[in-house]
Amino acid sequence: SKPESCSVWTKEDVVASLPEREPFAHKGSHGKGLVIGGALQMPGSVTMTSRAALRAGAGLLTVATVKDVISILASSVTEATFIALEEQAGKINSVDGIEFAYDGIAIGMGMGRHQEGEKLLEEVLKQAESPVLIDADGLYALKAYLPHLASRSSPTILTPHPGEMAHLLGVEVPELLQKPFQCSRQFASRYGVFVVLKGAFTLVTTPKGNQWVHTTGNVGLAKGGSGDVLAGMLLAMVMQPQSIEEALNNGVFLHGSTADLLTEDTHSTYDLLATDLIDGLSKTYRTHL
Ligand code: APR
Ligand code: MG
Repeated sequence: SKPESCSVWTKEDVVASLPEREPFAHKGSHGKGLVIGGALQMPGSVTMTSRAALRAGAGLLTVATVKDVISILASSVTEATFIALEEQAGKINSVDGIEFAYDGIAIGMGMGRHQEGEKLLEEVLKQAESPVLIDADGLYALKAYLPHLASRSSPTILTPHPGEMAHLLGVEVPELLQKPFQCSRQFASRYGVFVVLKGAFTLVTTPKGNQWVHTTGNVGLAKGGSGDVLAGMLLAMVMQPQSIEEALNNGVFLHGSTADLLTEDTHSTYDLLATDLIDGLSKTYRTHL
């Protein structure tokens, strides 16, 4: 492990790499995204991921989830289209019915953990020819398929918090937090994945072992839902014309700086909600672009 090869992703990096909107672009140019997640018991996270993806710039968005979650989402994610998946006890049971013709896919938010999870993940990772971002419950269903990830022809992105990362590594959280740089780098290169290890300082690692640390964001983000918003933002980012490492770094930077902007004036670190971040994105874009 060479910590000296790790840099901080700065506002200048964002300005230099975040693509401008082309005046003659159409919705297809801004990416057709798919979010797979949600369960009857957890309709909120997939709602936040979807709204964040749209606010962050996704051109078109489809949400594949269970029937009852669609009725909840339909009014709060007006711009999206929906696919009703087969379910078992309120949880997604199959990905049948999805045609994998998307520019980016995010899976796992609010999906719940159950036996079928592994099979779902495997189906998606085998069929999808676009970048796939795996978050939350999706990460708990991934272990069996890890050895096959390196043979995917398109990027795989994992966005664990330390608990999820420790689970994937088969270690305890304190052990991971003693050497987050080394653990992320070894994991990313072994399985050929991009890793976004979240925390007060988020660490982005590429399959080749390049790393960036992030200093934006504050303790206002330490609330359920912040991670779901990040997943949606990253989905939108990977569909824009920039490299995957630029997309991930720009997304993490903008997520954190939205929290910073909001807690500077309209909010405090006590009251900030994940949904505020989604609405606050407007201000971030207007400030940074
Ligand atoms: N400073 C800066 N950023 C922070 C801080 C902090 N002190 N605390 C959290 N964050 C950021 C992280 O970097 C990340 O982007 O907030 C986000 C939190 O993401 P997650 O940990 O994935 O949280 P989230 O999924 O929204 O909610 C917790 O995860 O463990 C599961 O089941 C649990 O439902 C719960 C969910
Ligand atoms: Mg999370």
